[in-house]
Amino acid sequence: MERTLIRDLEKSIGKEVLLQGWVQELRNLSKIKFIILRDRTGDMQTLAFKGETEDESFKLIDDISNESVVEIIGTPKKNKESRWGIEVMITSLKVISQSDVPLPIDNSDKSQTSIDKRIDFRFLDTRNKKHQAIFKVRGKISKIITNFLDSKGFVNINTPKITTLGVESGAELFKVDYFGRPIYLSQSPQIYKQMFVAGGFERVYEIAPVFRAEKSHTTRHLTEFTGVDFEMGFIKDENDVMDMIEEMFIHLLTALKKEASAELSLLNVEHNFPSKIPRMTMKDAKELLKAKGRTYKDDDDIDPEGEKLLGEIVKKKFNSEFVFVTNFPWVIRPFYHMKPSDDPKGTRSFDLLFNGVEICTGAQREHRLDILSKQAKEKGMDMKDMVKYAEIFKYGCPPHGGVGFGLDRITQRLLKLDNIREAVLLPRDPERMDP
Ligand code: 4AD
Ligand code: MG
Repeated sequence: MERTLIRDLEKSIGKEVLLQGWVQELRNLSKIKFIILRDRTGDMQTLAFKGETEDESFKLIDDISNESVVEIIGTPKKNKESRWGIEVMITSLKVISQSDVPLPIDNSDKSQTSIDKRIDFRFLDTRNKKHQAIFKVRGKISKIITNFLDSKGFVNINTPKITTLGVESGAELFKVDYFGRPIYLSQSPQIYKQMFVAGGFERVYEIAPVFRAEKSHTTRHLTEFTGVDFEMGFIKDENDVMDMIEEMFIHLLTALKKEASAELSLLNVEHNFPSKIPRMTMKDAKELLKAKGRTYKDDDDIDPEGEKLLGEIVKKKFNSEFVFVTNFPWVIRPFYHMKPSDDPKGTRSFDLLFNGVEICTGAQREHRLDILSKQAKEKGMDMKDMVKYAEIFKYGCPPHGGVGFGLDRITQRLLKLDNIREAVLLPRDPERMDP
């Protein structure tokens, strides 16, 4: 007999079917026994009756534990009183894989188990359909972004994670022993993205792991996360990059509503879809914050509390959950960001905040090697130590810019999850390296 999935039972009323799945719940009355069975498509009440179900199977139910894998042959019937509208009368039952007791975590909806313990047994935790929904949405986000960027002519590339090049900030590099030589785990595909814009693709993107040796213990930092990076050539300025991001996000939110409506309603998530994302300079953002009692110097970055407050201000003022903060001060941006010709203290860069948390950083890059070398010097670096990077700009490199997102953070913010760890199957932080 072929397996029937729980979501298709409706089509088999009155016909004998084979179901396979996990035991979610057991109830044992003397003459009737219930098994709530779960497969990847949902859960369903099944019942065994003394005298109707095979004797051996009826007895077997007493020995089954929650989360065991079982196979049930039975007949679905309509039942208005059951919360499923149908239930399955068991003819026979087989245990395929018995679960140990007690379970190390509670994976029910009422669970009080800590996120830390849940991650220790993530494969049990993801059997909960709400937790599973997070990862179904995450997968959809990745797919929708992939399709969107493909449709805009971006080429999906893969770049090395074992590297000797780092351009973001030296402090966050993980040093690794590579056959006796020191190398680094990639902290961003920045250099390679630029390399292949110059490599004639013009537009490239990558969705891949990014490593940061950040000893932060926050609800939004990990030491390994999934970066969504794109880079585009022949731009006028950073506004072209922001236009692309704006279109991407509006498309993402609209497509998710269609493609993940079940998961979004299970997780009780709704968003206001922007038709435009407001853009404000860092200077203007600081003015708005000053009016609310938070003051910053010209060259200061806005701290997380400030970002949170700015998120609230923007929500009120523009009715938008998103805001681009532009023109970041030069002193807090890496050397490869382009400076506006009339503002040596600024950069052609931006962050996108989603409900008061940074989800991406982008910029127009400096593609003129003479200026880039000067900028490196200003930051105490030397292009001579970055020969491979310098070469990118020597043989015809178009003006270009791009952006880096964290897929984990997008998922966290979109699903309004308290902790980034909820949005990652097996998160890595300074304390956690396994499972
Ligand atoms: O802001 P970041 O460091 O920017 C870059 O990597 C640039 N190369 C991007 C560019 O193309 N200019 O990182 C980009 C994004 C952040 O906005 C954030 O969403 C995420 O990556 N991110 C992290 N997510 C989780 N844990 C961390 N430790 C993260 N660090 C950055
Ligand atoms: Mg950033």
